[in-house]
Amino acid sequence: GLLSKAIRTKKIEVNTINPRDFATDTHKTVDDVPYGGNKAGLIMKIEPLVKAIKKAVGNKKSNTTKVVLLSPADKKFSQKIAVEWSKKYDHIVFVCGRYEGVDSRLLNYVDEVVSIGEFVLMGGEVAALAMLEVTSRLIPGVIGNEESLDDESYSDEMYLEYPQYTRPEEYDGFNVPEVLLSGHHGKIEEWRKKNSK
Ligand code: ADE
Repeated sequence: GLLSKAIRTKKIEVNTINPRDFATDTHKTVDDVPYGGNKAGLIMKIEPLVKAIKKAVGNKKSNTTKVVLLSPADKKFSQKIAVEWSKKYDHIVFVCGRYEGVDSRLLNYVDEVVSIGEFVLMGGEVAALAMLEVTSRLIPGVIGNEESLDDESYSDEMYLEYPQYTRPEEYDGFNVPEVLLSGHHGKIEEWRKKNSK
């Protein structure tokens, strides 16, 4: 797909880091029981995660690097946030939680906590992929159509989507709206605005 092409053509670079590689005991433990008792299960330990973040960030964190922790309950990710990220940062580190949460002291090592919606995934990976895809397609050259970016994402507004149709003009008794066949650009624009969500 377009994301793998963007990686091949070096428009973006994607790396993964496994916190387990930074666990120091023989069992490579990355989770443990929470202090105060166990409501839901094991939570992720802080040391391997912080070491993994440091590995991702490098020796000196530049102000164009952002560290994002993924969590179900926090600020909602949006097109607007993706537009901001794509303009401001050249390196985004997504920290994916697992199990039933992470040691809260991790908040001292991240810039922002973001959720992709009000539902609980098994871990942050799918959420990170969604944010990666949304943010990457805003980088010029990634979707190969700069014009559709002008239309859409470079404005800080959410993309207003209007109904679209392609051939045939009639399918199973359902017709393409007459105005779209008219060739009248003014009227078409007006119709699209009126029918945008
Ligand atoms: N981790 C688990 N659920 C999540 C969600 N909805 N968004 C971001 N990270 C998550």
